[in-house]
Formats: sequence, C-alpha cells, structure tokens
Amino acid sequence: MRIDILTLFPGMFEGPFSESIVRRAQDAGLVQVAVHDIRQWATDRHRVVDDTPYGGGAGMVLKPEPLARAILAVRGGGDAHVVLLSAQGRRFDQAAARRLAAQAHLVLVAGHYEGVDERLIGSHVDEELSIGDFVLTGGELPAMVVADAVTRLVPGVIEAGSLEHESHTGGLLEGPHYTRPVEYEGQRVPPVLLSGDHAAIAKWRRAEAIRRTAERRPDLLANAELAPEERARLPKGRAERPSVTDAELARAYRSGVGSYRIAERFGISPATVRTRLRRAGVRMRPARGAERGPTVAEVKRMRKTGMTVRELARHFGVSHVTILDRMKRAKPAG
Ligand SMILES: C[S@@+](CC[C@H](N)C(=O)[O-])C[C@H]1O[C@@H](n2cnc3c(N)ncnc32)[C@H](O)[C@@H]1O
Repeated sequence: MRIDILTLFPGMFEGPFSESIVRRAQDAGLVQVAVHDIRQWATDRHRVVDDTPYGGGAGMVLKPEPLARAILAVRGGGDAHVVLLSAQGRRFDQAAARRLAAQAHLVLVAGHYEGVDERLIGSHVDEELSIGDFVLTGGELPAMVVADAVTRLVPGVIEAGSLEHESHTGGLLEGPHYTRPVEYEGQRVPPVLLSGDHAAIAKWRRAEAIRRTAERRPDLLANAELAPEERARLPKGRAERPSVTDAELARAYRSGVGSYRIAERFGISPATVRTRLRRAGVRMRPARGAERGPTVAEVKRMRKTGMTVRELARHFGVSHVTILDRMKRAKPAG
C-alpha cells in the first residue's frame, strides 16, 4: 500500500513516522509513506498557497490550484483514494480504517487555517474524514492518526491474532488485560486466566468484552456482532434490537433465556416471542418454574477455574441464587 500525505508542515511527521508502527511497516516494505509540502506546487515567488475568504471573515483559505496540482502529481495518473481531513467529515472509525486499508493508494490531505476552497473538495476529494467532534489547528495530527490506524491493518504489519480480539473488532471493546505479578496491591488476577483452560478463558474474555462494552459504550451494542443468546443476556435497557429472525429467537431461547427476557431485549411482546418460537418448531418450556440460565455442567466447569459465585453470576448474567442452585445440584447426593 502507498500513502501520500499533502501538508504545509511536513516536519511534523518526522518524529511519529520515524518511530512508530508506520516506520516498521515501511522497513518491511509493506507500506510506502511519502510526505509532501503543498508549497512545492505553488507557482509564485513567495510560494503562496492561501488567500483571504470571499465574503470577508477571519482567517485564510487554502487555494484550489496548488492543492489540485499536488493531488494530481501524487496520484500519478492512477486511481488513488483522496481523503481530506476535516472537522466536518464523516467520523473516522475502525470500519473506515478497514475500508481504507483495502485501498492500494491513499492520498491524505491535511487542511489548515480556515479550511480548503470548496470547489477543490468537490472535484478532487473522494471523502472527508473527521477524527472527532473537536477542532484542531491543522489536519496533520488527523492524517497521522489515519495513517497509523490504517497501516496496522495492512496484512503482515502486525500479528493477525492481535487484531482479532482488539477493541472495535466486531463492534465490541476488548476486555481487561493482566500480567505478572499474580497479586498487585491486594488485587489478584482473575483465577480463570491462571486455569490453563483455554475454552473457559476464551468464554470469560468474550463475556468481559460484552460487559465492558455495555458499561462504557452501550451505543456500540446495537451494531455489535452478538449471538442471539448474548444479546438476550445484555443488561436491561442496552441495545434492544427490534429486527430479529425466528432462528435467532430460537437460538436465544434454547440457550436458556426466558421468553419474557427475550421479548424485552428484542423489543417485541412476550406473546409474539412465543408464537414465533412455536412457529420455528421450538418446544416451549413451562412458563413458571422453568430451568433458566446455565446448566449444572456449565457452572461446574467454570467453577473449576476458580471463579467466585459473584463472578459466575456476572459471567452467566443470572442471580447468585441460580448459581448456588446449580452448585448444590452438582454435589453428589448423600
Ligand atoms: C482550524 S481547522 C478549520 C476548521 C473549520 N473552519 C471548521 O469550522 O470546520 C483547520 C484544519 O484542521 C483540520 N482539522 C481540524 N479539526 C479536525 C478534525 N476533528 N478531524 C480532521 N481534521 C481536522 C482540517 O484539515 C481543517 O481544514
């Protein structure tokens, strides 16, 4: 992949690009980054690239001609994707980073002063991206942010395994991390991580990612990639999703979640849930006294990893009474 950056301040890129993952990716020949001074394409003696705004007002505006020449020169006749960093652009996020990482050639244009002449944007820019709802002095830092986020997604730049579970993959935040020592300031590493049970660890990590997202960024949950039973177990009021298939309802119900809870999480009435479950050929459990939540075997397995009753309740999204019930039933009679 090739990334060309157009800026009035090329010196700003020296530090970050000579230290970071962008440097490593370049050294490995996976990404080629070039930073260009827009003034190179000015034609007058003083290399002027900005002018006062028509209609008056404070600040200066980047002129269209030098920028257009710069874009055409770095495109080199190819079909590069041209991005203008702008506080008015669409919000840059991980999905946008993935989309840009699939491009063979990116041109990032860093604006400055009051902005860029609108006609240049209309005819030479493919999209405008903002890195957040705040205004920076120039597009240099946003261009660095985009180049960094995109570069690390280029195949081979970092280990595929690290990308798989990190925040914003699948629309969730990543769960917590721990390293040595086992005990720090009286706080112990969650026992499941020391258990060596890889299936239990993966399950715990997934549950923690969902819990953390629900706590910190509930807005992400509506579009997160969640299995129906995971969505049905979300805390109340988080990311109810009205469009759900019969198969998804059936899967949530078969995982042990009751029809009332499913109805609430998917924003439909309990009667509709039951009708649709029957239509999907699901054998309904009796309405009361039903077996809900994890099975005895599931609780027994996770308990072996050293999780406390409170942790198990949180993990399975049920009350501690349910966990105690399963533990009691797991004990041999007599
Ligand atoms: C001072 S800002 C111009 C702000 C502009 N007058 C407005 O109100 O939208 C100068 C340049 O910084 C860059 N910039 C500022 N905030 C940004 C953001 N949140 N995301 C991306 N670029 C930004 C853009 O390239 C912009 O042209």
